[in-house]
Amino acid sequence: MTDDLPDPRDNADADPCRAALHDIAAAADLRALEALRVALLGKAGWLTLRLKELGKLAPEARRARGVELNTLKESLLTAIEARRVALEESALAARLASERIDVTLPARPAAPGLIHPISRTMDEIAALFGAMGFTVAEGPDIETDWHNFGALNIPAHHPARADHDTFYLPPENGEGAPRVLRTHTSPVQMRTMLREKPPIRIIAMGRTYRADHDATHSPMFHQCEGLVIDRAITLGHLKGCLVDFLRAFFGLPDLPVRFRASYFPFTEPSMEVDIGWNRQSGELGRGSDWLEILGSGMVHAKVLANGGIDPGEWQGFAFGMGIERITMLKHGINDLRPFFDGDLRWLRHYGFSPLAPAMLHEGV
Ligand code: PHE
Repeated sequence: MTDDLPDPRDNADADPCRAALHDIAAAADLRALEALRVALLGKAGWLTLRLKELGKLAPEARRARGVELNTLKESLLTAIEARRVALEESALAARLASERIDVTLPARPAAPGLIHPISRTMDEIAALFGAMGFTVAEGPDIETDWHNFGALNIPAHHPARADHDTFYLPPENGEGAPRVLRTHTSPVQMRTMLREKPPIRIIAMGRTYRADHDATHSPMFHQCEGLVIDRAITLGHLKGCLVDFLRAFFGLPDLPVRFRASYFPFTEPSMEVDIGWNRQSGELGRGSDWLEILGSGMVHAKVLANGGIDPGEWQGFAFGMGIERITMLKHGINDLRPFFDGDLRWLRHYGFSPLAPAMLHEGV
């Protein structure tokens, strides 16, 4: 490289650094440019060596030569910097071109898919209870025996366990009680009580499991749990809250709702909730038949205590309902099995547009 360059002294007429400037402007990439910089201005570079030789010259000649070399140095540095910027810009442009993503591609496929009726119902439940000040809590599908049963006042050998047709899993570390696939969403009551201080106002929706399979039972199904705990919550609040919810959910302001004394180990008193319908036609709110729709009651003092809440100070209600059941009733779906078959023809018939989400102002 050094030899290729014109010695400015040899060629006083021509631009002394034209060749060097030409090489710089033609540098193909940053690496070639850096090689040129080192050859010209590096420790043993062409110009550096000549600057070092200045000391050997007589003062007069040194000044003239010094000015000349420094001017040259300036133009070389300027040219190198200009080329560096140009090379970096074109490298960036090339990268941008090669990594280009066309964000104008349609965000939605022509067919946007459909919301499963179960998801739709859960959205509606969240919207309605959300409007009543509830938040949404969650718990695991694989539960401890204690959360699913023991803490809810269902001790081992309690007859209620037999009703639940439980799926058992081996204990966590091979020791202790077997784990269970939660048979209801009620263990989320316990998890919430242990995690939060009252007042509490939550719903919990999700999958539940029981070894049961026919036209109206699936081994996996969905429930919605509700839990309200405060200092002065009464059965009246329970009734008002559920009546409001059921009438809004089914869109029937005069839907008959009946509270019938029942038994659950974790509530006292306990009530089954029925709605009026016509068994023959399946029509809701008409006829003189009753259909059981959910379980409810005032949270048992033992359950509060198990959840670390003083039953002398706090009380509240809880309820649990099957999501499939109310979905089938609302939309006139008479078989439970296709809910989980993944048949797109069924979904096309019963599914909901994702572009029209469940919102209160649209009249869930
Ligand atoms: N967990 C009960 C069931 O699955 C329903 C329920 C929940 C009843 C909360 C009362 C209170 O049947």
